[in-house]
Amino acid sequence: MKILVCTDGSEQSLRAVRKAVDIVADNKNAQVTVLHVEESISHPYEIPSAEHSPEGHKRLEEEHKRVIAEAAKIFEEKNIKADVSLGQGHPASTIVEMASKENFDLIVLGNRGLGGLKKLILGSVSNAVIQETEASVLIVK
Ligand SMILES: Nc1ncnc2c1ncn2[C@@H]1O[C@H](COP(=O)(O)OP(=O)(O)O)[C@@H](O)[C@H]1O
Ligand SMILES: [Mg+2]
Repeated sequence: MKILVCTDGSEQSLRAVRKAVDIVADNKNAQVTVLHVEESISHPYEIPSAEHSPEGHKRLEEEHKRVIAEAAKIFEEKNIKADVSLGQGHPASTIVEMASKENFDLIVLGNRGLGGLKKLILGSVSNAVIQETEASVLIVK
């Protein structure tokens, strides 16, 4: 079984990572990949912003690496081998596309993430992934 666990660095997504660790620990045939997608920020106009300066860009890159390393460490601590993948683009489409291209059986996500509204049960990424993917989805609360 191939499992794709997705993190944006949020507490909820780390709960999803820990759940994936539990599943893989109980299932010797499971193979897991941790995916973090760098969301491409597009502005309608060329507004100079922090992300567009070289320092801002570097800071963001470091943040993305930190997010993926933090999740990878949770697997390492349990002596579980996990592949890591740093994607780029629209998070939901990137997750769905990777799951389809690489034949993942199960996608594990947090119910919410970094952004969004507290009153929503499902965030926009988890909602879009459930709607669009053919893989099974585990939403971790
Ligand atoms: N950029 C991302 N890369 C990988 N996974 C993500 C990304 N954004 C969200 N996710 C996954 O989707 C879950 C729900 O997040 P999301 O739908 O974005 O909620 P919110 O709207 O609260 O930010 C997260 O816990 C995480 O598992
Ligand atoms: Mg989000």
